[in-house]
Amino acid sequence: MSETHFGYQQVDERDKARKVRGVFDSVASRYDLMNDLMSMGMHRAWKAYTVAVADLRPGDKALDIAGGTGDLARAFARKVGPTGTVMHTDINEAMLRQGRDRLLDEGLVLPTSICDAESLPFRDWAFDLVSVAFGLRNMTHKDKALAEMNRVLRPGGRLLVLEFSKIAEPLSKAYDWYSFNILPRLGRLVAGDAESYRYLAESIRMHPDQQALKAMMKTAGFGHVDVHNLAAGAVALHVGIKC
Ligand SMILES: C[S@@+](CC[C@H](N)C(=O)[O-])C[C@H]1O[C@@H](n2cnc3c(N)ncnc32)[C@H](O)[C@@H]1O
Repeated sequence: MSETHFGYQQVDERDKARKVRGVFDSVASRYDLMNDLMSMGMHRAWKAYTVAVADLRPGDKALDIAGGTGDLARAFARKVGPTGTVMHTDINEAMLRQGRDRLLDEGLVLPTSICDAESLPFRDWAFDLVSVAFGLRNMTHKDKALAEMNRVLRPGGRLLVLEFSKIAEPLSKAYDWYSFNILPRLGRLVAGDAESYRYLAESIRMHPDQQALKAMMKTAGFGHVDVHNLAAGAVALHVGIKC
């Protein structure tokens, strides 16, 4: 029996996905509001930066993994236009439903699919670009998920991983204080759930830092990986090219 971490807890590998599902089932309806409050709106700038780096063109095919409420999928759809494709996917039905409803309210109908990043239901070389924003951290076998993302990209295609990362040392004490004191309180007040936001703070600390994730992406088959630090490294965008 293998173990893995769920935040700071050691759990049976087979239990992690269920526990992660519990977190996102619980917060789905308040997810967007919480994102704005927790990041003081900065997640919008990080995503806008990701969309700019993605540099999608009309007709391109993009896959957004762990797409949740659809921020990236929506922005990508505007770039690829009616001749392109953006697949909006997530393992969690509650998150995907929130996203789909939001996109429909804005007049966007995208192909939507419940799928596990560790076993993607797409053929090899199907996409020009794959993205995963704040999702990789929650996956049980990150190496397997990265290998799947590599498999579905065409040669020369790019993977964009936007994720929490290691903040610059001088800011780490203040960031820890904010993460372990303010986030769970905000979670309790706004989403009625302190535990899920404690998990968020813990899972960020357990996630590979910039260099470790870069090495994992190289092992998964990305010949070249660039790291863009955002917010003093609290968040990083990793861009991997399938060579
Ligand atoms: C923090 S949310 C990010 C949502 C969206 N990408 C954003 O940036 O706002 C993380 C998402 O990862 C999804 N997720 C977790 N494990 C996954 C897996 N194995 N495969 C696909 N999605 C997964 C969760 O269901 C959740 O919707």
